Amino acid sequence: MSFMQINDLKVHYPIRGGFFNTVVDNVHAVDGINLEFEKGKAYGLVGESGCGKSTTGKSIIGLEKITSGNIIYEGVDVTNKVRSRNSAYNRDIQMIFQDAHSSLNPRKRVEDIIAEPIRNFLKLSPGEERKRINELLAIVGMSEEARIKYPHEFSGGQKQRIGIARAIASNPKLIIADEPVSALDLSVQAQVLNFLKDIQEEFGLSFLFISHDLGVVKHMCDNISIMYKGRFVESGNRNDIYTNPQHIYTKRLLSAIPEVNPTNREERKNIRRAVEVDYLTNHHNYYDENGRVFDLQTISNTHQVAMSAQNKGGM
Ligand SMILES: Nc1ncnc2c1ncn2[C@@H]1O[C@H](COP(=O)(O)OP(=O)(O)OP(=O)(O)O)[C@@H](O)[C@H]1O
Ligand SMILES: [Mg+2]
Repeated sequence: MSFMQINDLKVHYPIRGGFFNTVVDNVHAVDGINLEFEKGKAYGLVGESGCGKSTTGKSIIGLEKITSGNIIYEGVDVTNKVRSRNSAYNRDIQMIFQDAHSSLNPRKRVEDIIAEPIRNFLKLSPGEERKRINELLAIVGMSEEARIKYPHEFSGGQKQRIGIARAIASNPKLIIADEPVSALDLSVQAQVLNFLKDIQEEFGLSFLFISHDLGVVKHMCDNISIMYKGRFVESGNRNDIYTNPQHIYTKRLLSAIPEVNPTNREERKNIRRAVEVDYLTNHHNYYDENGRVFDLQTISNTHQVAMSAQNKGGM
């Protein structure tokens, strides 16, 4: 059973212009997506830059106003609610931000940044709080000296680790991790990813894992949705997406992964060519006349693909 459902979520940003600065159009950053979260599962959100991944994450935690659709958390509608600081939803859903730098208050010391969710949600004594902060710093591979420093004294990767420590501080149920490792070097990436997997298993934590990197998502996620211009082109489990992709956009993304093994290079090149031909000749099966992605159609218990209704079963 899922503990949280996101139904037909839309986030549109107004574009203002003209002499009176009136709203002339809207950016459809997120344009009708559905998600469900089950305990202990990791969900992946993949897609090119600007397709609406961060907006999705931010609107779920309440940082962007939702234009339409709703979010149901444990049976309660929490859409656009002005939430009190200590509400269960705020404690249980945390986010690791893509832009670690601007997500950390420059005037606060690291210990106060990490302690914020602890002070809001867990009533710990000063001694217990101190211990918890040290634990969290150790988990993300930082020393206790970091406690009294300010964010500007850290590198990009270190700031991201501080953001991770803050996100896990209040024992959340769901972490929205927006490109959590993209600013880290490879050895630390593996360390942080393995750590996220460990806490997922240990505490039954769920993740919404946002990334450009299809390799990282394959490693981390049980279910994956591929996003294009604010809509999902395909959703499925790891096997559906990586071994049986159906939408041309998914196929193009997968065929663009560089091949390390030289013996397969020629074969990959041929696959890439075939996918390009499919894209050029069958574009109308995947996108409508305005270039908008069709609604998702269910093709198996786990697998959904965006296609025109008359194409269902015939792709
Ligand atoms: N505050 C805003 N006002 C207007 N448009 C915005 C705003 N924030 C984002 N957008 C637009 O919404 C779209 C989605 O942006 P978003 O940041 O969600 O993309 P993304 O998928 O996270 O991209 P990236 O992979 O580069 O992080 C983009 O076209 C962006 O220009
Ligand atoms: Mg983003």
